[in-house]
Amino acid sequence: MGPSQFVSHCTADAMVVAAQKLIDGHLVAFPTETVYGLGADATNEMAIAKIYAAKGRPADHPLIVHVHSMHAMGDWADEIPAFAIALARDFWPGPMTLILNRSSLAQDFITGGQNSVGVRVPDHVVALALLSALHGLGGKGIAAPSANRFGHVSPTTAQAVKDELGSYLNEQDQILDGGPCTVGVESTIIDCTGDMPKILRPGAITAEMITTSTGLEVLDSTGTSIRVSGSLDAHYAPAAQVLLDQQPLAGQGFIALVATATPQDVIRLASPNNDVEFAQSLYASLRKADELGLTHVVIEQPTGSGIAVAIRDRLKRAANGR
Ligand code: TXA
Ligand code: MG
Repeated sequence: MGPSQFVSHCTADAMVVAAQKLIDGHLVAFPTETVYGLGADATNEMAIAKIYAAKGRPADHPLIVHVHSMHAMGDWADEIPAFAIALARDFWPGPMTLILNRSSLAQDFITGGQNSVGVRVPDHVVALALLSALHGLGGKGIAAPSANRFGHVSPTTAQAVKDELGSYLNEQDQILDGGPCTVGVESTIIDCTGDMPKILRPGAITAEMITTSTGLEVLDSTGTSIRVSGSLDAHYAPAAQVLLDQQPLAGQGFIALVATATPQDVIRLASPNNDVEFAQSLYASLRKADELGLTHVVIEQPTGSGIAVAIRDRLKRAANGR
């Protein structure tokens, strides 16, 4: 455990204190509806460097800028296409990140030197209160990757953030506790720099939803040259070896929808009732496997569309190891 402060009463006053910490160049981990983020003032290069150090993340991996309202899109992006505005109207606040042409405010230390920037309005009362407090203090946005060490499982509770990063934060930094994340997998990332929306990372906002909102066909990420760290083959991985769609053996962990029974001497880690619950509980279940010191976790993948697409995307990478 590190010495950083853990804040579980996220009152308006506490949010002003946290926002001031951001302005002063400290890190504040905060809840969103997807996963917890490790935040810093998106205009402060020194503060951003602390994020990379705490995560152990390569410096050319870009960060998502979180803003309090879609009206702040124009601070960070230029030449925003009409279809991106339609998406923002329909799905923000929500589990969606838009990749847009960057403005001069989005400097290389945010974008990894690319000409695009990722922007998102998260749908969580604590995140929105923090972003509004920052806005009130003249701040422009919070850059935040998922609050885990590079390549590891994203945290979906404040305690998981503390377990993961506590020893890399200092006593000026804070972890805000807003309860368990309701979505549980990271936001859908949509590249809006071309003529058509392109999904770089699947999430709760699906291709069907994007088409309904924009009237446009949606591309997948094949052939893109944009760097997405979450698209590395091995990512989102626990220490335990993840095996997909196999018969679990005695002593191994097991995650499957509730309809699948647990074979004898297999350690059932989660029995979600549906795909939404599967996403909600997945990362906490993988962390539990590591806490129990299991060597293998077998996962029976959900087969449906919707959020199941994002679950299978993360599981494929988790199965590739660390
Ligand atoms: O749900 C989420 O998106 C969470 C919460 C905290 O908002 N954040 C998150 O951040 O997952 P991170 O950094 O762990 O993953 C964001 C991904 C990275 O793979 C990054 O490479 C990609 O977004 N990304 C950010 N800016 C980009 C850009 N300009 N072009 C392409 N990819 C970008
Ligand atoms: Mg991440």
